[in-house]
Amino acid sequence: MSRIEEIKRRKTFGIVSHPDAGKTTLTEKLLLFGGAIQSAGAVKSNKIKKHATSDFMEIEKQRGISVATSVMAFEYRGKKINILDTPGHKDFAEDTYRTLTAVDSAIVVIDVAKGVETQTEKLVGVCKMRDTPMIVFINKMDREGKDGFDLLDEIEGKLGLKVCPLSWPIGMGQRFQGVYNIYKKELVLFRAHGKQEGEAAIVITDLNDPILDEKVGEAAANELREEIEMISEVYPEFDVEKYEAGELSPVFVGSAINNFGVKEMLDCFVDIAPNPLPRETEQRLIDPFEELFTGFVFKIHANIDPKHRDRIAFLRICSGTFRRNTNYYHVRQDKKMKFAAPTSFMAAKKEVVEEAFPGDIVGLYDSGNFKIGDGLSEGEKIHFKGIPAFSPEQFRYVNNADPLKSKQLAKGIEQLMDEGVAQVFTKEINNRKIIGTVGALQFEVIQYRLKHEYGASCEYEPVGLHKAAWVDCDNAEALKEFTAKRKRDLARDKDGKLVMMAESAWSLKMAQETHPDVRFHFTSEF
Ligand code: G4P
Repeated sequence: MSRIEEIKRRKTFGIVSHPDAGKTTLTEKLLLFGGAIQSAGAVKSNKIKKHATSDFMEIEKQRGISVATSVMAFEYRGKKINILDTPGHKDFAEDTYRTLTAVDSAIVVIDVAKGVETQTEKLVGVCKMRDTPMIVFINKMDREGKDGFDLLDEIEGKLGLKVCPLSWPIGMGQRFQGVYNIYKKELVLFRAHGKQEGEAAIVITDLNDPILDEKVGEAAANELREEIEMISEVYPEFDVEKYEAGELSPVFVGSAINNFGVKEMLDCFVDIAPNPLPRETEQRLIDPFEELFTGFVFKIHANIDPKHRDRIAFLRICSGTFRRNTNYYHVRQDKKMKFAAPTSFMAAKKEVVEEAFPGDIVGLYDSGNFKIGDGLSEGEKIHFKGIPAFSPEQFRYVNNADPLKSKQLAKGIEQLMDEGVAQVFTKEINNRKIIGTVGALQFEVIQYRLKHEYGASCEYEPVGLHKAAWVDCDNAEALKEFTAKRKRDLARDKDGKLVMMAESAWSLKMAQETHPDVRFHFTSEF
């Protein structure tokens, strides 16, 4: 197969959801369709267990296992589909955000009973920054949940997505009878734990066809007719270009655990989800079909188990062909590197790859050469954009607890920050360091790793902060006034960018109002 054909058959996406909405279950069903795994439960065992929240070593152990499932690839209808796992545990959220910078589309899973939850809102927000096309899957239709139209309102209101239902449930919970696939004009009847493949869908192009009453009963048939009519009046017709532009999200419903409604969504996904998209760099737009190889690192996994000290950098291929044992140019370090054992991820097994194409993710064994956002090329000096740092939500002062080891502490902090474990900010007035994370667990991880990997000790001190906002301003006078007035709130991030460490939502709002020329950003890239 030619390189062009290889690129055209790739679809790289992530599943985003609040923990427990059914992401793992859905992933597993998708892999089953693709024949990448043989039995249910294969993915499940890698899930980070809820009860482990206070025991980070346990979480790390499980995270270690889950490296193998960080990227799962499968073949379906001639396409190569790469699913990038977006860890659902709340404490890994920044890793999750960054993974979304490497996808071309996303599937958003929502629990029909719980509706839109906080993590979903945050993750969809990240997808929207890049206009990532999103398909919504409303899960757990076998349970009682919210009214379908109310839920669509909630999705539009809270997530700011324009929706377009492409499948619609007939009843829910105990009364759940199936879905009408608006996209294909087919009725699919629900069977708990049913094997769907063998079961033919019933084509119903005209909903007035009495076969509908025969299959689901008159009352349910009439209800469906009314609801589908309402959908056609209220919601826009599906338009693939709008979907690709991130302006319209098709909605599917089903029950992942019962493998119901999943195939309908997957078939539509395969038809409409974008192939590898161009990537922005500071220099120019990189087209996936270019002959020369380029790629960027979006995630670094360091195993903190001393018995398995491996570090894997995850590289997204953006153009050309990536080959094993070939010299590539590491732009930031200005040096050539080659990789003897790049790995691909096929469900639960890691394999050495000879070559990989745009849209693919390869794992590179790394001894400390990579930082998040690093680019590789065949010689061109390109700096990828769109892999920002996100505003942390938890902050603590970090103090050196062992004055004899201050160098080790500085080095340890610097390296852990490069890996993307957390972010460090240096206060302008007193040079004190503040570590910011998305989840509280990360503080423990840092302390542990500093001790075990760098021999350094640190202590934390509480600091009441709400958010870090990166600041910029075209008006030099206004910026000067702002920095003079807000000196005690200002800090620099690890790249020296100016950041306001806002104590509260209110103080941030006040700063915005008092300094209208200053722009405040919640990611490091703007
Ligand atoms: P997550 O990765 O998004 O965190 O969710 P996961 O797939 O682990 O699913 C969370 C829980 O929801 C699991 O139950 C799972 O079995 C259940 N679930 C997933 N899809 C459906 C569905 O369509 N209908 C119903 N009724 N439940 C569903 P659990 O009890 O937490 O775990 P387990 O004991 O089943 O493993």
